[in-house]
Amino acid sequence: MQAWLCERTDGPESLVWRTLPTPEPAQGEVRIAIHAASLNFPDLLITQGKYQVKPALPFVPGAEYAGVVEALGEGVTHLHIGMPVAAIAGTGGFATHACVKASQVLPLPPNFKLEDAAAFAFTYGTSHHALIDRAALQTGETVLVLGAAGGVGTAAVQIAKAAGARVIAAASSDEKCAICRDIGADATINYTHENLREALSRQTAGQGPDVIYDPVGGELAEAAFRSIAWRGRYLVIGFAGGHIPALPFNLPLLKGASIVGVFWGDFIRREPAAHARSLEALSAWYAQGKIKPVIDELLPLAELPRAYQRLSSREVYGKLVMRIGV
Ligand SMILES: NC(=O)c1ccc[n+]([C@@H]2O[C@H](COP(=O)([O-])OP(=O)(O)OC[C@H]3O[C@@H](n4cnc5c(N)ncnc54)[C@H](OP(=O)(O)O)[C@@H]3O)[C@@H](O)[C@H]2O)c1
Repeated sequence: MQAWLCERTDGPESLVWRTLPTPEPAQGEVRIAIHAASLNFPDLLITQGKYQVKPALPFVPGAEYAGVVEALGEGVTHLHIGMPVAAIAGTGGFATHACVKASQVLPLPPNFKLEDAAAFAFTYGTSHHALIDRAALQTGETVLVLGAAGGVGTAAVQIAKAAGARVIAAASSDEKCAICRDIGADATINYTHENLREALSRQTAGQGPDVIYDPVGGELAEAAFRSIAWRGRYLVIGFAGGHIPALPFNLPLLKGASIVGVFWGDFIRREPAAHARSLEALSAWYAQGKIKPVIDELLPLAELPRAYQRLSSREVYGKLVMRIGV
């Protein structure tokens, strides 16, 4: 097999392309011939040693991928050879093959495209858990999505719309705002040029958004929180801006509002039944055409360094997907 290997955690520039023995699945594992793998922000952090999970070196990055089952380890009965599947394994995706625990493999329904499946569970799973489960989003509520043209952001826009909410998408450029309108946002704010608080007040008749979805952090967070509606829920998703914000405690008091942490990786580990229900709901929405991954570019696996470069320069719309072995 061939793979991009992380031998030192000093960033994606240090990844090396290696030819390795094709692994045999251990007990309870399957081997997948990978057809597509997508890039998520944590795939960047993990190569820098900055992610919550720190795998032993060397490892193959690539948290999320899709392909076809090629070999079964002992004891695996619910999957079969030739089955199209997706995997959320944390690592292993930027390669032609991977062995993964059968419990981390999701059989795909008919008509689920492999490149969509490779760009699905991580972002849509996070945004569904955040908006529907953690924030208990109600039909007719207003949701503000920050970093709305990114991976989890585009998923959040689509999920909030599918749930019957009004969506205000905020992003750093007019081009990113246009993408958000294309996928259903009702209104947009370009936070490079517009004052976030003034724009939110104007767009919500002074009431503020009921739910704020924040994968960016940094300076935007306090301005956004100061605009939240009475009984609002502020979803802490991530800190792509690099800076972890801090809030004065009087702000949630004054609005009767909640700061709600979201950690999808631990949610799927601790609450597998709830995670399965979430994926089932998302698959149904995909089949009905209500949600669909926004794929900025499909690239050959050999171009992974360029994909990383695009992700870290903040220029990706939705997701980048590496095409592998097909
Ligand atoms: N809590 C969880 O369970 C969970 C799960 C998945 C991901 N996450 C986190 O969510 C965040 C977003 O992940 P993603 O995969 O959606 O990433 P992404 O596609 O790169 O999107 C991140 C967005 O953040 C904004 N941004 C602001 N400053 C940035 C900077 N210096 N560098 C890069 N982007 C910047 C960009 O939007 P603008 O240019 O419009 O500002 C960008 O579109 C990450 O922090 C990730 O770790 C958390």
